[in-house]
Amino acid sequence: MCGIIGYVGDRPCRDILFRGLRKLEYRGYDSAGISVIDDGRFSLLHSVGNLDNLEAILDQLGGDGTMGIAHTRWATHGRPSTENAHPHTDCSGRFAIVLNGIVENYLSLRAELQEEGHTFTSETDAEVVAHLIERAYQGSLQKAVVEAYRLMEGHFTFCAIAVDEPDTIVGIRKETPLVVGVSEGENFLASAIPAFLAETRSVIFPDDGDVVVVRRDGVFIADLDGNPVERPVEGVDWDDEAAEKAGYETFMLKEIHEQPTALADTLTERIGPDGSVALEGLGLDAETIEGLGRIVIVACGTSYHAGLIGKHALERWARLPVEVEVASEFRYRDPVIGPDCLCIAISQSGETADTLAAMRLARQAGARVLAVSNIVGSQATREADGVLFTRAGLEIGVAATKTFISQVLAMLLLGLYLGEKRGHLSRDQVRTYTQELRRVPAMLSDYLEDGAADRVEEVACRYSSASYFMCLGRNIGLPVALEGALKLKEISYVPTEAYAAGEMKHGPIALLEEGSPVLVVATDSRVYDKLISNVQEVRARGARVIAIASEGNESLAEMADEIIYVPRSDEMFAPLFAIVPLQLFAYHVARCRGEKVDQPRNLAKTVTVE
Ligand code: M6R
Repeated sequence: MCGIIGYVGDRPCRDILFRGLRKLEYRGYDSAGISVIDDGRFSLLHSVGNLDNLEAILDQLGGDGTMGIAHTRWATHGRPSTENAHPHTDCSGRFAIVLNGIVENYLSLRAELQEEGHTFTSETDAEVVAHLIERAYQGSLQKAVVEAYRLMEGHFTFCAIAVDEPDTIVGIRKETPLVVGVSEGENFLASAIPAFLAETRSVIFPDDGDVVVVRRDGVFIADLDGNPVERPVEGVDWDDEAAEKAGYETFMLKEIHEQPTALADTLTERIGPDGSVALEGLGLDAETIEGLGRIVIVACGTSYHAGLIGKHALERWARLPVEVEVASEFRYRDPVIGPDCLCIAISQSGETADTLAAMRLARQAGARVLAVSNIVGSQATREADGVLFTRAGLEIGVAATKTFISQVLAMLLLGLYLGEKRGHLSRDQVRTYTQELRRVPAMLSDYLEDGAADRVEEVACRYSSASYFMCLGRNIGLPVALEGALKLKEISYVPTEAYAAGEMKHGPIALLEEGSPVLVVATDSRVYDKLISNVQEVRARGARVIAIASEGNESLAEMADEIIYVPRSDEMFAPLFAIVPLQLFAYHVARCRGEKVDQPRNLAKTVTVE
């Protein structure tokens, strides 16, 4: 939610900041702005809409300033408008700030400041920060930032600059991301690494309450009392190309095609030569694993669907009771958790506010917490007792694709790992599974290269004018149907619902009429025959069946109106294949309808607000 970048160095920074914003556009795109210190004063630019609008007027900003901050916004408080776009300034025009997150007590702060004579020009919560700094400033931006921070409630990151300190950016975070890019003679602050990846791969991950003072000649970090704090500089191995479309028309399409690589990378070194699963860093010793009584998975959105698949793997292989909870619900319940409970928090970003709150709640109640995340150094990975990293690489498309498939794989690996450790799977059984898993990346790669995408495009475009889709699945196919439906909703905006196929007759079937398109996840499984009965129920209502089936299933081809094959696999691995045509289906429906798939309306990649 919202992207921030700051630069201080020797180079004119307007274009550096703008390029950084481009890389952060996935975090929000309803308005944007840049502020550069030029000739001892702020040069400021704001625009509404996506970054093309800012780019069109970028020349209005003096091009010589070598220090500045910029922001791309996902509106929370105040509609998208130039007034509400960041950076915000104070009354005197000496301070500018950009903020990501929410200042929960902004109304009372604003009222207090107004009473003292401060004049506000926007409806945002963020503007209070500029005025708080103005009030507190006595020659040290660092101290003024701390004073403002101490008064603010909520979860946010902000960066501030002052005309009187044209060599300093001060940033601070509270439960939302802030990263520092370190380079020779120039340094960066941002809400995510891609913002400066083209310039440096040396990164510092500050903690909440670290006051980060960034100057051209170095980065100084202190606690709120001004005592120096040491944070290591870490190298990241993402390359900047990951943040480019590499010839694809959108990031989402590129990322769909990167799924075989994401799977291969997530598998690397996790299957031993003896066929066992090797997972390091879980923070679970043999005794803890033995003593586990149950598992609670907390997650949001797509990650929640990966959790539902994880439930199948963990119950079947590790024989543990598993609940999967939407984090935003779990965090406000009074769940019964004890020390024998393992809480698995799944979050590709590792920054989702609800998931973080849910894992904290579980932890307070005595559970051990394992984070499954794609981002090294993210908040979830820092707070958890153990981490299982997916290795999908940078995902820019707001609609998650390759991170989902990697999460599913991670949960399957975890299921096999705990299954063997808990004595419910023999090494031979695990080996049989892992031998097949090893082949999955190549099978998926061949599948995508063999024209599967074209076939899906053709079908999707035929149905792209539908006003409603239903997605059905059973057993491990149900979360796949749920995820396919989410993709359709997110990027094509066509109302789509997913149901357990066996549940349809208890109500949703009433929605079906002649010609209604129904996507059915019908890969081989233990419930295949049951699912076929549901397919017949759909057909009997005149609806059209678009089936995702295992290669070679000819009998279903006779029953369905459209059939899209995926490679045949063990039923537990079928989600790794079946989700791909559903992602492509959603993608092409959206494209045929003329939608911008990488920037779906109202969404942002990382949801750091509750
Ligand atoms: O970063 P997280 O995995 O915690 O994100 C959770 C959801 O916000 C995310 O999966 C969202 O549903 C995506 N837009 C799905 O495409």
